[in-house]
Formats: sequence, C-alpha cells, structure tokens
Amino acid sequence: MNAPLTSSETVRLTQSDEAAGALLRADGQPVADDFPILARPIRKRRLSYLDNGATTQKPRAVIQALDQFYEQSNANIHRGVHWLSQHATDLYEQARDRVAGLLNAPDSQHVIFTRGTTEAINLVAQTWGQGLQAGDEILVTGMEHHSNIVPWQLLCARTGAVLRHARITDTGELDLADFKAQLNARTRLVGVAHVSNALGTINPVAELTRLAHAAGALVLIDGAQAVAHAAVDVQALDCDFYAFSGHKIYAPTGIGALYVRGSILKDLPPWQGGGDMIRTVSFDGSTWADGPQRFEAGTPNIAGSVALGAAIDYVRAIGLDRIAAHESALLAQATAAMQAIPGVRLIGTAPHKAGILSFLVDGIHPHDLGTILDTEGVAIRAGHHCAMPLMSHFGIPGTARASFALYNDLRDVEALVASVRKAQKLFGV
Ligand code: ALA
Repeated sequence: MNAPLTSSETVRLTQSDEAAGALLRADGQPVADDFPILARPIRKRRLSYLDNGATTQKPRAVIQALDQFYEQSNANIHRGVHWLSQHATDLYEQARDRVAGLLNAPDSQHVIFTRGTTEAINLVAQTWGQGLQAGDEILVTGMEHHSNIVPWQLLCARTGAVLRHARITDTGELDLADFKAQLNARTRLVGVAHVSNALGTINPVAELTRLAHAAGALVLIDGAQAVAHAAVDVQALDCDFYAFSGHKIYAPTGIGALYVRGSILKDLPPWQGGGDMIRTVSFDGSTWADGPQRFEAGTPNIAGSVALGAAIDYVRAIGLDRIAAHESALLAQATAAMQAIPGVRLIGTAPHKAGILSFLVDGIHPHDLGTILDTEGVAIRAGHHCAMPLMSHFGIPGTARASFALYNDLRDVEALVASVRKAQKLFGV
C-alpha cells in the first residue's frame, strides 16, 4: 500500500490542482477525485477523458446510489403492497422530483422517464405525431443529431408530413433568417438541439421557441448536450418538450427523461402498451393512466432513475453556474491553444458555445488522430458524431472532437495539444 501523503505533499497536490484550473469541491479537493475511473491510468498514462459528449464518467455518489438501491431497496414499483415496493416507488418518484427540479418544471407530473434522449424524441414522434396530416411540416436545423432527424423522417413517411431543415452558417450557427423563412402556418413542430453535439454551438432556443409559438408550432428541445453544462429552465424557455439522457449528466446509461408541458401531456395518446400505463383493462377496451405513467409501460429502469436523481443532486450541489463557468474557461483555453497549432482547423466557431471542440488536422484522418491521441491517454471521439447532414454541410466526412466536463482541467488541454503535435510529427505534417 502507498504511504499516506505528508501534509506538505497534500498542499502541493492541491496547489497543482488549483494551478491546473481544476474545479474544486467545498473541501478544496478537485471534483475529479469523486470519479474513481479517472484515477485509472490508461496506456500507462494519466487519462485525459475528453469524450464527454459521448458519455460522462460517474461519480462515487452515483455508483453508490446504484449499489445501495440493489442492496437495500430493490423491489418493483407501483404494484406491491409490501414495504419494499412502496419504498422503491417512493425513491423512483423522488427521482422524478429531482428531474423536475433540474429542469425547473412546474411539477414532476410533467416528467416522463425514458431510456434517453433518442427514446424521448421517438415517443413524441409516435404519440403527438399521430395527429399529423399530409402537408404538415416539421422544422429542424441543419446541425441536428440523427436522433432529432430520423424519428421525424419515419413520422413523415407514415403521415405524408414534410421534414424541413433550416440552414446553418459556416461558423456553425443557425441561420436565423432561413429559420424564419421556413417557419410557416403549416409548421406543426420545431425540433432543435439546445447545444450541438458536433460543434458545441448553443442555439438561441428561447428566441426560436418564441418564433415557433408565434407561428402556431410546438417546440421540442434536444437537451442531451446541455443539461450537464448549464442551468436549464423549461418554464423560462417556454418549450413544449425537453429531452435529455442521464448518462450525459453523470448518471447511468439507459435512463433519461422527457419534459412535456402539462396541457399537452394530458392530450397525448398512449405509446407502448403494457403494465403500469393503464387504469383498467378488459377485452372490451382499456383505459389509460393519467400523467407520466401513461408513457412508462412495463417495469422501468428503477435503479437508473434513482441513480439519475443522485447525479442531479451531485451537479446541483457543485452548482451548474460554476460548472458552466469552469467549462467555458477550459473551452477558451483549448480553442486558443488549438488555433495556435499550424494545420489545425476548428469546425464550429460560433461565439456562443458549450465545451465542445471539433477540429481537423491537415494530412491526418480524424480516426487516425483519435487512435494516436489514445496512445497518449487522451480519449476523444472521431467521426460524423451522428450528424451526417452537418458533416455534408461542411463537406467533410467527420471531425475529431474533444468535449469537456466538470472534472477536466488545463492538464487535459495540455495533453490534447501535446498529443496533436505528436501526431503531426508522426505523420510528418
Ligand atoms: N450523441 C453522442 C455523441 O455525440 C453519442 O457523441
């Protein structure tokens, strides 16, 4: 076992964390200490985990919430008369309260648990979308993730509705004039990413919602890349649907949520049929549960929901405004450092961005770059980022993407820059 650190070593480490611009907990230690996996050397190097857009690592509080649920509280919900079932139900519903709190939803009865953002958008397309008719229009943007394109394409194929997309500019911003031009009396819904997963662009979703509502359209916001990185207020945004994935906010995979504005939720037809979503069932016909349960057929991801609640408590205790400021500072440092490397081209240079840096290096395919960075302990994503239409807009097959989270610091930026330079040296470019 390692000898315990002396007090002077502890101080030195703390200073070094501070010097590296690490986000610190109330006790002065870096938040990275809460994430066991970050202490694991990868390829014998310190891990610089910069693939947070794909999924985030999990803090001990979330891992323990999962363990504790199965060790102390596991039972099925909404069904049992026994104590454990009622206890598990309470935990599940408390997690729904946590989601409502995170989004500032008016109450938890506006929150449906889903497997994630993709399932949430499909849920809207397959329930609300049943009311669409030939000639109706759905308007998205050119920077959407496939999960905010394909469900609408499937819906349009079923109904004869038309999917339109608003152009984006060469800096990776939404072309507002084109958005306004495409919005019309036939537009029934606008679907837009709060933050682009491939570029980091923060879209002006409150303004887009105001414009859409003025045209008589509903608004769905894909919040997958937003909720872990800034405070979200669905009432202030005034949106009709807001979707996000738990695993991108430090919770497990397979759990997420959909906020639906109250008056809309009550009129949505059911989605999947089964247990828990019904009020009564007979062979003459069935009736449906009110509220979010109508969309939660079958035994849900109870432990995942509870762990999502723990993740939400974790980020809110640190403070989403602090997290946003920290990641914004890191992005600024990383942007400046990468722009200073000859041969590096940033893709997505909007003035309002979250902590995502997409880039190309002359003479090196993004996949090769990702592989070389991996040998240096730097984990990034390379490819089209499930945004092929966006890549087509830029005329490229894909990018390399570094995406930041609350536990990253300047050591990660330095590792990114050093490993890109090393790749250039290896390729002789
Ligand atoms: N949608 C995730 C990403 O952008 C997987 O990486």
